[in-house]
Amino acid sequence: MKLSQRVEQLPSQFFASLAGKVAAAIAEGRDIINLGQGNPDQPTPPHIIRALQESVENPVTHKYSPFRGTDELKQAAAAFYKREYDVDLDPDTEIAILFGSKIGLVELPLALMDKGELMLLPDPGYPDYLSSVPLADVTYDTFPLLEENDFLPDYTALTDEQKKLAKLLYLNYPNNPTGAVATKEFFEETVALARENEIGIIHDFAYGAIGFDDYQPVSFLQAEGAKDVGVELYTLSKTYNMAGWRVGFAAGNKDMIEAINILQDHLFVSLFPAIQKAAAEALSGDQSCVTSLVKLYEQRRNVLMEECKRIGWEVTAPKGSFFAWLPVPAAFTSEEFADYLLEEAKVAVAAGNGFGKTGEGYIRVGLLVEDERIREAIRRIEKLDLFQK
Ligand SMILES: Cc1ncc(COP(=O)(O)O)c(C=O)c1O
Repeated sequence: MKLSQRVEQLPSQFFASLAGKVAAAIAEGRDIINLGQGNPDQPTPPHIIRALQESVENPVTHKYSPFRGTDELKQAAAAFYKREYDVDLDPDTEIAILFGSKIGLVELPLALMDKGELMLLPDPGYPDYLSSVPLADVTYDTFPLLEENDFLPDYTALTDEQKKLAKLLYLNYPNNPTGAVATKEFFEETVALARENEIGIIHDFAYGAIGFDDYQPVSFLQAEGAKDVGVELYTLSKTYNMAGWRVGFAAGNKDMIEAINILQDHLFVSLFPAIQKAAAEALSGDQSCVTSLVKLYEQRRNVLMEECKRIGWEVTAPKGSFFAWLPVPAAFTSEEFADYLLEEAKVAVAAGNGFGKTGEGYIRVGLLVEDERIREAIRRIEKLDLFQK
């Protein structure tokens, strides 16, 4: 059967080809240390699992959910934003429940943009931002995130044409892949840009809970006027190790939230109610699991940084997320280096150019294996004699 143009034009999944290379190496019987993936390695905390178990026993959860999600989860999401960020949200009009944040990233252009309109995407950036380009039949330009600007965009480098035409602009801090974080001042600058040029802002806050050295990442919604111009997407995947549960929400601008809800009225009947119940428990229950998780990632980051420095690899410590963005030795491209490490050190990493052309010269390393495996990975790399101590 001939596929639609829409589907034919979807970009091939960068992570799928990486997973394929790693799976092939493992199938050959090699002991691969996989630092290339972004799948949290810890289990969902027990109190959240218990909430699901209890809820699933109740036949009320076996029925259709309300189309726009349960009031309980929307109220828990609003209370979470008040508690964590001192942001006021109306659960009915300023929160939309999502099957994970990935779907929201694709739904927003579908719901808000017409054929041929322009969106602005970060480079490097999470590759799935590109999925909506053929699906919504829209166009995009990228803006570079450069190390010399702490991986924040330089809005003065946008052209008048880009500012005039752009309908949406995507941001993501703490950032995948660079591990950079944003400031409230930067988000205020973003609100000003959005207002002046009528651009909708989508802030992907997937790593919102993961800041190191006692730093709590800033929410875009904490910037004055943010709700007038944009939404923030929050996911439970990373904060509560619930990646497989598929639950998140969008928060902020009423019109953008309504647009998501209208689209979803036609695509889904919201999530399994027992999952919504467990998600509400995650957001409102004991948060010590989050504190421990962040400490765990921070410890792994410290191990990685110490080990890299020990072998003479000059690296910068990420301030948030569970990724480190490491420079590639001059003799290699990103992809060559990733292939070389897989082949010679049996260490899988993500090549930086998979996140956009500005990612060239870097690899992304995930902090999703135990300390000892991180040490072992760097010991294996040390044997390749690439760096001067
Ligand atoms: C930057 C970023 N945004 C969004 C997502 C999607 O998360 P989910 O769909 O599980 O909420 C991910 C997942 O890896 C991510 O890294």
